Amino acid sequence: MFDVMPARRGSGSLKWDQRPELRPFWVADMDFHSPPEVIEALKKRVEHGVFGYAVPHDGLIESILDYLRKRHKVSSSPDEIVHLGGLVPALSLACRAFAGEDESVLTCTPIYPPFLHVHRDANLSLTTVPYIMSEGTWTFDWAGLEQAVTPSTKIFLLSNPQNPLARVFLEEEIRQLAAFCERHNLILVSDEIHCDLILDEARTPHFTALRLPESYTDRTITLLSPSKTFNIAGMGYAYAVIPDQKLRKRFLAAQGHTLAEINCLGYYSAEAAYRYGEPWRLELLSYLRSNRDLVTEFCREEIGSITIPDIEATYLAWLNFQQTTISHPASFLEKEAQIFLSDGRYFGAEGHARLNFGCSRSHLEEAISGIRQAIEKGA
Ligand SMILES: Cc1ncc(COP(=O)(O)O)c(C=O)c1O
Repeated sequence: MFDVMPARRGSGSLKWDQRPELRPFWVADMDFHSPPEVIEALKKRVEHGVFGYAVPHDGLIESILDYLRKRHKVSSSPDEIVHLGGLVPALSLACRAFAGEDESVLTCTPIYPPFLHVHRDANLSLTTVPYIMSEGTWTFDWAGLEQAVTPSTKIFLLSNPQNPLARVFLEEEIRQLAAFCERHNLILVSDEIHCDLILDEARTPHFTALRLPESYTDRTITLLSPSKTFNIAGMGYAYAVIPDQKLRKRFLAAQGHTLAEINCLGYYSAEAAYRYGEPWRLELLSYLRSNRDLVTEFCREEIGSITIPDIEATYLAWLNFQQTTISHPASFLEKEAQIFLSDGRYFGAEGHARLNFGCSRSHLEEAISGIRQAIEKGA
């Protein structure tokens, strides 16, 4: 099923149509059809033929509460769920809701680029602390964070599992981060969009911020969506779980009239994904594991000079070219191999490129041979 590449060029795809002269391995969507059940649910809703303003229907709410209960062992209620058109708007909203002018946001790098820009929507400043490598694993620089935080810091933005490092943070790390936020009176915004893409869950289980002790509830917002896992990001549906009423009110109040209505197809695709998508998800993870192994072996065993972290989650490989002679890998790969990777500098790290391996094996092999070719030329 995943070996078949859908023809996406000319379909209005950001990934394929932005630079049609290049083979795309950049933006985080996958070159796979969504689960058949999602496609069926969309067809059914389209056949209804009326597309007026929508509200989250009961089936969607039920599927979200079921998902939270089964997957995360969290019992929630409909009023704790804030429906949104995307996670990035939610990050921006959090900045507007929980900090004021002259205050600041804290995050760790490298990081998915919007984390480095949303503070501007609220005229805030941004402080970043690089992740550090400890015993072969990327982790928080606790001393660096203590040094960087100030009384004007109000928000910590977390990506877990981490994009682009593909790390699933341990329960201890999340607890330590929550304690750090409490000590410095920060709101913790936990973006967990990739949490259903954990490649070996027995080894690296996800610890959601929703499972932190109750004492942290009044400072924690968790952002979720089936969008990455089921390849429905273009449908524009995500949600925040905010159990604390006061916090939720502040978050909602910051919306003003800035957000568009969520469309009915977003709601229906999300419901179908959560309700029926589990067998498909398990097959997807198995396919992604093989792709992950292929990229990892290529970098470690064949090339050697490109370093790659252990990819615990996501379909994203963070390639470090700093031991090669190639200083701007993404532009070099564009020029020399006509392949389009995400440039590390947008994530806050030069000398890196992010490779999206959410595609058929044969397409991934094209990326690998492109990198091989570019390395030979750059050597
Ligand atoms: C960590 C993270 N957050 C948010 C998003 C995008 O979310 P949305 O499309 O819902 O705004 C992405 C997309 O790659 C992501 O990796």
